[in-house]
Amino acid sequence: MLKDKNVILGVTGGIAAYKSVEIASRLRKAGASVHVIMTAGAQNFITPLTFREITGNPVTTTMWGEITNYNVEHIALAQLADVIIVAPATANFIAKAAMGMADDMLTTTLLATKAPIFFAPAMNTNMYENSLTQGNIQKLVDLGWHFIPPATGHLACGTEGKGRMPEPAEIVAFVEENSAMSLDMTGHKVLVTAAGTYEPIDPVRYIGNRSSGKMGYAIAEAAQKRGAEVVLVSGPSALKAPAGVKLIKVETAAQMRDAVMDNCQQADIIIKAAAVADYRVQEVSEHKIKKNDQELVLVLEKNPDILKELGAKKRAGQLLVGFAAETQNLLEYAKDKLEKKNLDMIVANDVSRKDAGFNTDTNLVKLLYRNGTVDELPLMSKHLLADELLNRVLRLK
Ligand code: CTP
Repeated sequence: MLKDKNVILGVTGGIAAYKSVEIASRLRKAGASVHVIMTAGAQNFITPLTFREITGNPVTTTMWGEITNYNVEHIALAQLADVIIVAPATANFIAKAAMGMADDMLTTTLLATKAPIFFAPAMNTNMYENSLTQGNIQKLVDLGWHFIPPATGHLACGTEGKGRMPEPAEIVAFVEENSAMSLDMTGHKVLVTAAGTYEPIDPVRYIGNRSSGKMGYAIAEAAQKRGAEVVLVSGPSALKAPAGVKLIKVETAAQMRDAVMDNCQQADIIIKAAAVADYRVQEVSEHKIKKNDQELVLVLEKNPDILKELGAKKRAGQLLVGFAAETQNLLEYAKDKLEKKNLDMIVANDVSRKDAGFNTDTNLVKLLYRNGTVDELPLMSKHLLADELLNRVLRLK
C-alpha cells in the first residue's frame, strides 16, 4: 500500500516525538519515501539528524533556511505528498491547524496539500478531553482529516488516562487501512449527483422521484477517501455530506442541471446516480392550492435531460457514468440509454427487487460498457459497490 508513496511525516513538540523515529523507520520498511517536517517544538525533543539518517532524506525544520532539493519548498512538499501523517499532534498544533494557520512549514504544507491527512494526537487526558480540543478535532474531521484515536495508559505527565500516542505499528497500520486503498484516485476530479429531485406544485407540494441518495453519497465518499477531489450535487436527502466532499444542495432538476453544468468542465469523471424527475409542473401555483370537488389537472412539461446534455458535450478524457433504474427489460433499456446519452458505462438497476434500488443498503447491478460487455455484480452493500464501480471506472481511464 505504501510502497513507492511519498509520505510526509510531521513531528510536533510532544514527548511522544521519540516514537516518531520508529514510525519513520516502519514507513521506510513498507517501501515509502519519507520526508520529515519538524516543528520548532519537536526539535527540543529530538534532532533532525536522527530522522535524516532513518529516512535518507533531508529534514525540513524551517521555512526560512536554504532551499534543499525542493523548488518552493512548502508547496513542493504539499504537492509531492501522497499522504501526510502528523505524529505526535499536540493540542496546540491541532488548534493551529483547525484555525487554518500557516506560521511554520508543517501548518503551511497542510494548508497547501490535497493529500489525505492523518493526525495521531498525544497529550494529557484533560487537554484531550477539553471541549476546545474536541471542537478543533471535529472541525478537521468534518474536512475529511483522519484522527487516530489515542490510547489509554500511563502518560508522561504522571497521570493515567486517554491521550497516549498509539504504538508506531498501529499508526502505520491505521494509515494503510484508511488511506483508501492506495489513494488511486489522487488527482482525479469527480462530480457525483445523488438523490431525487423535487418539482414544486405549490409552496407545499411537489412531485418527486424516490431516492434516498445512499448510492450517490457512497460513491462520493469512496472517491474522496481514495484521494479524488469530489463535488456532490444532491437533491433533497436525509444523509450527511461525506467528510471532505464539496456538497451542493439543490431541489429541482433545473437547479441540478445548473449546478452540474457549472462544475462539469473541471471534472474528469462524472457519475450521475441522481433520480432526476423527468417532468415539472408547467405553472407552479404561488399559493397553496385549495381542494374542491373537481379533479385537479396538472400540466407537466419536460425537464432537461442532464446526462444527455453532458454526453453531447463530453470532452476528451472525460468519463461519463449513468444509472438506469428499471422495472422491466433492464438490459435493453440500459443499453439504449448508454448509447443515446453517449456514456462510457451504465449501472443497470432492477428497482423492482426488495434488496436493490431505492432506500436499501444493498444493491444488485449489471454494468454495461460501450464495447457491449456486461459485467454482472453480486448483491452487495452500496459502500462496497461504490468501490467496485470506481475500480471499473479507473480501468476505463
Ligand atoms: N437523468 C438526467 N436527467 C434527467 C433524467 C435522467 O440526468 N432528466 C440521468 C439519471 O441521473 C440517470 C440516467 O439519466 O443517470 C437515467 O435515468 P432514468 O430515470 O433511468 O432514465 P430516463 O433517461 O429518465 O428514461 P426513462 O425515465 O424513460 O426510463
